[in-house]
Amino acid sequence: MSTLLVYGSYGYTGELVVDRAVEELDDDTDLVLAGRSPSKLEAQADDHDLPSRAFTLDHQRVVERHLDDVDAVLNCAGPFSRTADALVDTCVNTGTDYLDITGEIEVFEALAARDPEAEEADVAVLPGVGFDVVPTDCLAAHLAEALPDATDLSLGFQAFGSFSRGTMRTAVESIGEGGAVRRDGRVTAVSSVHDTRDIDFGAGETLAVTVPWGDVSTAYRSTGVPNVQVYTAVPERAIRALEATDSLAPLLDREWVQRTLSAVVDRTVVGPDEDDREEGRALVWGEITDGEETFEARLETPETYTLTAMTAVEAARRTLDGETPTGYQTPSSAFGAEFVTEFEGVEREDATPVEE
Ligand SMILES: NC(=O)c1ccc[n+]([C@@H]2O[C@H](COP(=O)([O-])OP(=O)(O)OC[C@H]3O[C@@H](n4cnc5c(N)ncnc54)[C@H](OP(=O)(O)O)[C@@H]3O)[C@@H](O)[C@H]2O)c1
Repeated sequence: MSTLLVYGSYGYTGELVVDRAVEELDDDTDLVLAGRSPSKLEAQADDHDLPSRAFTLDHQRVVERHLDDVDAVLNCAGPFSRTADALVDTCVNTGTDYLDITGEIEVFEALAARDPEAEEADVAVLPGVGFDVVPTDCLAAHLAEALPDATDLSLGFQAFGSFSRGTMRTAVESIGEGGAVRRDGRVTAVSSVHDTRDIDFGAGETLAVTVPWGDVSTAYRSTGVPNVQVYTAVPERAIRALEATDSLAPLLDREWVQRTLSAVVDRTVVGPDEDDREEGRALVWGEITDGEETFEARLETPETYTLTAMTAVEAARRTLDGETPTGYQTPSSAFGAEFVTEFEGVEREDATPVEE
């Protein structure tokens, strides 16, 4: 028997993950729901007839008591800048593997720096097992197989559908921080509109802008390519709004703006409903070059939250089965470039040379 604890199990994405885990995990896995709100947890545990553990991440001893008999934690409680460190602090003591669905560059970088500690404790630390970054990370690894000495990697996505409250709240946290790319192997701060270009994600050319997406951290570790930028499709007016956040940033009281916007998000955002999740699709694109040759590849995937539940549960299942190497891992370093192609509804257009 093995035990998987889902922390943040009653959030929007946590619920999807739990539903999927109930369907997919075999009888040899005990699923435990967890989070900081006893009342929300109680209702969910009752609905699913599953055990639950209510605890905050404020006191390490308390967290340790709850993880002592747990083989793997799947953290769905974000922003992860507030939860990942506390859980990993405990996992390295209790010998518990750690997975999460973060997309936050600073969280990936902080966890990567803990690789020796994770190795020493013989545990896997595998963040980013959702839409951010499984498809882009696997596509990056696939492109790097085509051009192993590449110097420059561009990745991007076009998602059709809406966002959950947690995603919007996490995005609000980074307002005023500008953008980020990887230059010569280093995560480098850039303006919010660092670069724009027309990209064919698979549905015809559309305008895209660089975003501080998780791959700025993970793609370098997965491929060794020293220059990485990530794009997303946006309407032209969004670019003007992004430029405005940069020019206004020095004048704004960031805490006040974040508090106000978070309250608006809490009042107005509900997240995609079941129909949206079933019908939604996402397109992912990547381009790699060594200055002489260029290759590109594409993926089409299910809707982003649907894919997140699929990939997160499968990553947890493999981890419980002992398939995830110990130490810090990215999705493709743990499971290979083909990982994403194994899910229903994912189609890949393999790497092909781009003619000049
Ligand atoms: N990688 C991906 O592709 C992907 C996909 C989906 C979501 N996400 C990320 O996952 C996170 C959750 O998204 P969501 O849509 O599920 O949001 P949500 O519905 O707002 O749920 C957030 C969950 O996190 C918990 N939480 C937040 N801060 C916490 C803290 N400091 N300590 C303990 N628990 C805390 C919340 O508990 P309370 O209700 O008690 O506050 C709740 O259970 C976001 O950061 C989002 O960006 C990533």
